[in-house]
Amino acid sequence: MGVLIKGGRIVTATDDYTADIYCADETITRIESAIEAAALPSGTEVIDASGKIVFPGFIDPHVHIHLPFMGTNACDDYESASKAALAGGTTTLIEMICPGPQDEPLAAFKEWNGKAAPLAAVDYTFHMAAVRFDALAKEQLKQIVREHGISSFKVFLAYKGALDLSEEHLFELLSLAKELGVIVTAHCENAEAIDAMQKRLLGAGKTGPEWHEPSRPVSVEADGVTHLATIAELTGAHIYVVHTSCEPAVRAAMDAKLRGVNIWVEAVAPHLVLDKSAAELPNFEGAKYVMSPPLRAQQHQDALWGGISSGIVSTIGTDHAPFKFKGQKDMGVDAFTKIPNGIPSVQERPQLVYTHGVCTGRIDIHTFVDACSTQAARIFGMYPKKGEIRVGSDADVVVWDPSYEGVLSVESSHSAIDYCGYEGWPIKGRASVVLVRGEVQSRDGEFVGTIGRGRLVSRKPTHF
Ligand code: URP
Ligand code: ZN
Ligand code: ZN
Repeated sequence: MGVLIKGGRIVTATDDYTADIYCADETITRIESAIEAAALPSGTEVIDASGKIVFPGFIDPHVHIHLPFMGTNACDDYESASKAALAGGTTTLIEMICPGPQDEPLAAFKEWNGKAAPLAAVDYTFHMAAVRFDALAKEQLKQIVREHGISSFKVFLAYKGALDLSEEHLFELLSLAKELGVIVTAHCENAEAIDAMQKRLLGAGKTGPEWHEPSRPVSVEADGVTHLATIAELTGAHIYVVHTSCEPAVRAAMDAKLRGVNIWVEAVAPHLVLDKSAAELPNFEGAKYVMSPPLRAQQHQDALWGGISSGIVSTIGTDHAPFKFKGQKDMGVDAFTKIPNGIPSVQERPQLVYTHGVCTGRIDIHTFVDACSTQAARIFGMYPKKGEIRVGSDADVVVWDPSYEGVLSVESSHSAIDYCGYEGWPIKGRASVVLVRGEVQSRDGEFVGTIGRGRLVSRKPTHF
């Protein structure tokens, strides 16, 4: 059945105009100044978008849903994560496949996709993490790219002994990525330095969540970015630095860009709006705010917003990694190194960025769309199917109510998490109607869609 979105102000990464949009067969088939509902097939649903803004569906380029990590597993499944994403206006997720060091990549791909396919209500794809790199892994990574439409890898320059890759294998992985035209997303920190700092701090009895940030200071992150960029320079691989938290890391990426390295930078919602004082909250509350790289001193937020506004930072994701406060975060009550890392934000991201970015004037509304949707589609080989409002694009559309004012709360969260890192925060704007490929999946924060309708987006390599 078709859907007519009438009278909305359409805002994309580049355009701003008022028109009607008609969606049929999962795609946008007409955009015209006035489309008469009476002339459309009977049964067409009409959505009144007057007074509203119509955005392309948001894309979160960095989420964890199935995440076996630090002795536990993140608490969402694709049903709860999809509902949370949709409530915020996110219609496509890119999840990290993070297998263990002994696991075969192909089996991991099948495991992750097997969890997503029956439960996803959003479209989705994966960044394939390489945590081992032998002949078998190399062949299987090629197969995953060529046969399963995955065109991005992930490496961790962090988490010593868990997800990190040896120097030799990092070079080989980036060489393979260059050969295949695959972009390599990377968590950039210096794993060895962190390990040494953690031992030193714990040895001095500094065990609380407030010591997480000092164990991995900004210099450690900037070092990771510089190191990855060096290997990218040598191999010619295209790289994407995930969850960049601070000015020195942004600068390290900019330096590499100026040298001609093909490097893209991601910021994530927690680093844009929270600072390290959250991880210093008493009574172990700070554990809710332990993620890596850590929340930083407030001045780094300005560098991140400035980076987004100037285009140095291309995307805003979340690094959604939900671990419950009770039963998961408290695994680290005696040592901050055992607190599962992550701050869930898949639902809150669009409202946080709209409120703290657009409404404050830190970024304009086109940059908001670009960073929360279009750039991810471009960088990860989904554009213009995703991240755009044009005839022929998937009908992934958010009808946004800019006049809405409310507060964020765990009460309205669809994630399985037991806390909200932004509890009681006032926000402006919300996703009023959210369509995924032409079907309404969410209204005013409530799920009204179909579980299992989400589809794996097949992507071709574009980074040669
Ligand atoms: O703290 C984080 N970032 N948790 C999820 C794993 C990762 O490093 O992305
Ligand atoms: Zn990471
Ligand atoms: Zn992550």
